Amino acid sequence: MVAKKPRVVIIGAGMAGLTAANKLYTTTGSNDLFELCVVEGGSRIGGRINTSEFGGDRIEMGATWIHGIGGSPVHQIAQEIHALESEQPWECMDGSSEETSRAATFAEGGFQLPPSVVEPASTLFKNLMDYAQGKKVEDSTASNGEVEYQKLAAKAYKIFTSNGSLGNLSVGSFLRQGLEIYWDSKKNDEKLIGSGNWSRKSLEEAVFAMHENIQRTYTSAGDLLALDYSAESEYRMFPGEEITIAKGYLSIIESLASVLPPGLIQLGRKVTQIEWRPESCGGQADMDNGYGCRPVKLRFCDGSVMFADHVIVTVSLGVLKAGIQQDSGMFNPPLPSFKTEAISRLGFGVVNKLFLQLSPTHDRKGPELNKFPFLQMVFHREESEFRQKKIPWWLRRTASLIPIYENSSVLLSWFAGDEALELESLKDEQIIKGVSATVSSFLWQPQKTENSNSHELCNGNVSSEEHCGVNFSKVLKSQWGGDPLFLGSYSYVAVGSSGDDLDKMAEPLPSSSGYGPCVSHPLQILFAGEATHRTHYSTTHGAYFSGLREANRLLQHYRCVGV
Ligand SMILES: Cc1cc2nc3c(=O)[nH]c(=O)nc-3n(C[C@H](O)[C@H](O)[C@H](O)COP(=O)(O)OP(=O)(O)OC[C@H]3O[C@@H](n4cnc5c(N)ncnc54)[C@H](O)[C@@H]3O)c2cc1C
Ligand SMILES: *[C@@H]1O[C@H](CO)[C@@H](O)[C@H](O)[C@H]1NC(C)=O
Ligand SMILES: *[C@@H]1O[C@H](CO)[C@@H](O)[C@H](O)[C@H]1NC(C)=O
Ligand SMILES: *[C@@H]1O[C@H](CO)[C@@H](O)[C@H](O)[C@H]1NC(C)=O
Ligand SMILES: *[C@@H]1O[C@H](CO)[C@@H](O)[C@H](O)[C@H]1NC(C)=O
Ligand SMILES: *[C@@H]1O[C@H](CO)[C@@H](O)[C@H](O)[C@H]1NC(C)=O
Ligand SMILES: *[C@@H]1O[C@H](CO)[C@@H](O)[C@H](O)[C@H]1NC(C)=O
Ligand SMILES: *[C@@H]1O[C@H](CO)[C@@H](O)[C@H](O)[C@H]1NC(C)=O
Repeated sequence: MVAKKPRVVIIGAGMAGLTAANKLYTTTGSNDLFELCVVEGGSRIGGRINTSEFGGDRIEMGATWIHGIGGSPVHQIAQEIHALESEQPWECMDGSSEETSRAATFAEGGFQLPPSVVEPASTLFKNLMDYAQGKKVEDSTASNGEVEYQKLAAKAYKIFTSNGSLGNLSVGSFLRQGLEIYWDSKKNDEKLIGSGNWSRKSLEEAVFAMHENIQRTYTSAGDLLALDYSAESEYRMFPGEEITIAKGYLSIIESLASVLPPGLIQLGRKVTQIEWRPESCGGQADMDNGYGCRPVKLRFCDGSVMFADHVIVTVSLGVLKAGIQQDSGMFNPPLPSFKTEAISRLGFGVVNKLFLQLSPTHDRKGPELNKFPFLQMVFHREESEFRQKKIPWWLRRTASLIPIYENSSVLLSWFAGDEALELESLKDEQIIKGVSATVSSFLWQPQKTENSNSHELCNGNVSSEEHCGVNFSKVLKSQWGGDPLFLGSYSYVAVGSSGDDLDKMAEPLPSSSGYGPCVSHPLQILFAGEATHRTHYSTTHGAYFSGLREANRLLQHYRCVGV
C-alpha cells in the first residue's frame, strides 16, 4: 500500500479556520506534507466576520473593531494589505463615540443631561470595571477624584468578598455593590430636575444602568449577574486605540484565504457528525476501513462522508453546546465529560447590530436639523410610572443610537441578551415603529434647554409629534442567535465557570493524559475558535491565535520546522 499523506480537515472558514489553513499551507505547501481542506457549512467565508453594505456605506454585521492596535495580528495584516484606508466612507471611521465629546446623553421624556450629571456615574462605572479587570491606576497619574473612586472600588471589593469565596461572584453584583457605596458616600439629592420625576439620584443611577447595558454588548452576557468576576481580570486587551477597518473586516479574511489554491475551501459543506476513535489501540484490523486507515469519519448534511487523520473543529461555542445535546449526535462517541462540562459551563450570548436609514423626509427641516446626534439614552427604571408606554421593552436596554460617522444618515444600535433575540424576530415595520417612538420620546423636547439646540429635531411645535422629522426608510439587522451555523455571538466566562474551562476547550482529543500511551492515532480532533483562547476569547484576534496554535500543534507533531 502506498503511504498516504495525513489528511487534515478544518471545519469552518472563519478567522480561526482560515488562519490554521493559511499556516499549514504556507509552512508545508511546497513539500506537500498534508492533504488539506477546509469545509464550511455556509455559502461564504468569514463566519462571524460579515462585511456588508447599507445605504451606500460599508458596514459590519459581525466583528467591527480591532480591540487595541498595539500587538494585534489583525491590525498587522490590515496594515500590510493597506486595508486601513478607503475612499468610500465606512462604519465608525471617525472612532468610537464614547471616546469623543460628540455623545449627547438624553433622559427619557426628552432633556439633555449636562456633564455634571453624566460624568460622576460614568467615572464611577469606569473605575469599578478597571478594578474588576485588574487595571491599577497609577497614583502619580491619577487625579484626586480617581483615587477616591479606586478606594471606593476597593471597598466594594472587600465587602463583596467578605463572605469568603470569590467562586461564584458576578461582575453585575460587584458593580451594584459599588453603586451602593457611592450612594452612602454622598448626600442623596432627591430634588426633582427636568421633567418626568427625575432626580439627581435617579438620573445617576440610570446613567450607571446605561453603562451596564454597554457592558452587556461588550461581553455578550445578557445579564451581568451571570458574568464571572474572577475571570474578568484574566481577559487581556491590546494597548492603543480601537479602530475599524476601512476596507472591511472581510479584507483580513480574504487575505488569509488568498494563498490557498482553488478548491481547498469547500462551501456548503455542513458537517453533521464527527466519528472518532478514542481508544484505538495499536493498528487494529478494524481501523482498516478501506480509506487508508484514517481514524476520523465526517458525515455531511448531504449524506456524503469523508475520512481524515485530523480535524480542526472551529465551530462556535453555541454550535458545540447544541452538538453535545443528547439528541444531536454531532460527536460519536460523545466527547469526554471534561470537554462537555466546559462547553456547558462557559457562556455564549447573543449580540446583534441594527442599522437604520434615516429617510430623506428628515431633510425637510433644513440642514441644521438633519444632523442626528450621537444619542445615548437614559431610561426610567422598570417600576417608574413615568415610563413612556410607546417605547417597546426590547429598546429599553439599548444604550445608544448613533450615526455610523458624523453626518451619516445611517444609524446604528447594539442589542444584547433577550432584546437581541427579540430583535431577530421582529418585522422591519415593527422595528421602525419602535425606534421612531423611542427617538421622539428622547429628542422631542417640549422645553428647550441651553446647549441642546443643535440636537433639536422638532420644529418647536410641541403639540404634534409628527413634526419631529424622524422617520426611517430601511432596516438591516444581524441575526446571530437564530443562525444554526452560529447560535449566538461570542463567549464569556459565566458564573460557575472559569478560565480553566477555556483551556479545556483547547485540549485536543484523544487527550494524551486521558488515554495514555495506548493511543495510536493522537490528535484526531483539535479545537480552535475564539472560545478556546484563555485571555483573548470573544475576539477576532483570539480566533486568529487559536488557529495558529492548532496549526502549530500539528506541525510540531510531524516535526516540521517553521513553528
Ligand atoms: C455582532 C458581533 C460583533 C462582534 N464584534 C467584534 C469586534 O468588534 N471585535 C472583535 O475582535 N470581535 C468581534 N466579534 C467576535 C468575532 O467575530 C469572533 O470572535 C470571531 O470572528 C470568531 O471566529 P471563529 O473562527 O472562532 O468562529 P466563526 O467565525 O464562527 O467560524 C466558524 C465557522 O464554522 C462554520 N460552521 C458552523 N457549524 C458548522 C458545521 N456543522 N459544519 C461546517 N461548518 C460549520 C460557520 O459557518 C463559521 O463560518 C463580534 C461578533 C459578533 C457576532
Ligand atoms: C451577512 O450579511 C448579509 C447582508 O449583507 C446578510 O444577508 C447575511 O444574512 C449575513 N449573514 C449572517 C450570517 O449574518
Ligand atoms: C454575605 O452573606 C450574607 C448572609 O448569607 C448575605 O446576606 C449578604 O448579602 C452576603 N454579602 C454579599 C456581599 O454577598
Ligand atoms: C455559590 O453560590 C451557592 C448558592 O447559589 C452557594 O451555595 C455557594 O457557597 C457559593 N460559592 C461557591 C464557591 O460555590
Ligand atoms: C418618582 O421618583 C421617586 C424616586 O425615584 C419614586 O420613589 C416614585 O415612585 C416616583 N413616582 C412615580 C409616580 O413613579
Ligand atoms: C457635518 O456637517 C456639518 C454641517 O452641517 C459640517 O460643518 C461638518 O464639517 C460635517 N462633518 C463632516 C465630517 O463631514
Ligand atoms: C402645530 O401642530 C398642530 C397639529 O398638527 C397644527 O395644527 C399647528 O398649526 C402647528 N403649529 C405650528 C406653529 O406649526
Ligand atoms: C415615514 O415614512 C413612511 C414610508 O417611508 C411614510 O409612509 C410616512 O408618511 C413617513 N412618516 C412621516 C411622519 O414622515
